[in-house]
Amino acid sequence: MKKLVVAVSMVCVSMGVAAQPTKYEPIKPVAPVKVENPALVELGTKLFFDPRLSRSGFISCNSCHNLATGGVDNLKTSVGDYWAQGPINSPTVLNSFGQVAQFWDGRAKTLEEQAAGPIANPLEMASTHELAVEVISSIPGYRAEFKKVFGDDKVDIKRITDAIAAFEMTLVTPNSRFDQWLKGDSKALTAEEKAGYQLFKSSGCTMCHAGEKLGGDKFMKMGLVKPYKTTNTATGVHALSGKDQDRMTFKVPMLRNVELTYPYFHDGEAQTLEEATRLMGDLQLGKRYTDKEVAQIVAFLKTLTGEQPKIAYPILPPSSNATPIFDPWAKKK
Ligand code: HEC
Ligand code: HEC
Repeated sequence: MKKLVVAVSMVCVSMGVAAQPTKYEPIKPVAPVKVENPALVELGTKLFFDPRLSRSGFISCNSCHNLATGGVDNLKTSVGDYWAQGPINSPTVLNSFGQVAQFWDGRAKTLEEQAAGPIANPLEMASTHELAVEVISSIPGYRAEFKKVFGDDKVDIKRITDAIAAFEMTLVTPNSRFDQWLKGDSKALTAEEKAGYQLFKSSGCTMCHAGEKLGGDKFMKMGLVKPYKTTNTATGVHALSGKDQDRMTFKVPMLRNVELTYPYFHDGEAQTLEEATRLMGDLQLGKRYTDKEVAQIVAFLKTLTGEQPKIAYPILPPSSNATPIFDPWAKKK
């Protein structure tokens, strides 16, 4: 009897019946956003786009997490304030809320905690929290908005990062073609894309890339089966724990909108999805894919691009006479 069931299910697979989603799919659709506090989100939108949070007055969160390009800068590693060369590839801010932690090595637990990082990071916005607070406090339009949102016009770093995080929580990308298919629209995917998804599952990519975000929920070694060769000096979780077994362990990146978020890997060394897929097969699963299989998986990955958040470019309140003057040409301290 058991044999028969196995035989029948194998027939189903080969007849393409499995190309319909079941309730056991390892990937779940992205849920649309519910905005709870629109005034806080509006303030956060402004701060996200405000270059005055950087020392030079030129770099905003959006410089490296450009919402016109999938929430990334499409550069191998980011360019920071004063043209500083960043050490690592910028991950997307899209769907980043709700991951197990933030950053490649997970060193920030929440978006609020994360947002405090880049403002004071010398290779990113190169400011200090004190200066950022001084700048924002000096802008009457912001003070009025803080009063509206928080009840009084006190500006502090916690309020700044809470507002930015509230904005980031709205950056979700529902309704990708893959999600439409998951929800029952069998025509949403082509035969090649469905074949790519089957291969993605059957070869074990879903061991690490699953759930709503296809990642972002655990840390895994880069180079599980074969070591990864790179000149980038980042060692992942090892940098925090000091433990040898954590060397080259990174947060598994989300694959939502991965078509937009090139180049790939923490070092940005893989320029194309084909290259990233081949390397993942080889290094994580010990599999050598044929060109046709790579094309199928890549076709599937491109179905994960969702509706991009519609953001009206915010008009920022102007500086006042009391606002510190920015000098982008100042010698770096
Ligand atoms: C100079 C470029 C740059 C700027 C400016 C910048 N970031 Fe980032 N961001 C990065 C890089 C690079 C990383 C990855 C760093 C790491 O993991 O060590 C990152 C990581 C993140 C993450 C974690 C995403 C994830 O999946 O782990 C979030 C969220 C984020 N940034 C939001 C922001 C916000 C909000 C601002 C503005 C306050 C900002 N960033 C400013 C480059 C930048
Ligand atoms: C053992 C866990 C594991 C498996 C299995 C796995 N991955 Fe990954 N994947 C990772 C980790 C960890 C990274 C980040 C590596 C790095 O940046 O150094 C990653 C990165 C990626 C990236 C780059 C994403 C980005 O934004 O930089 C893609 C694309 C990807 N994987 C696709 C796949 C595909 C396709 C498969 C199956 C062939 C697969 N992965 C199997 C853990 C895994």
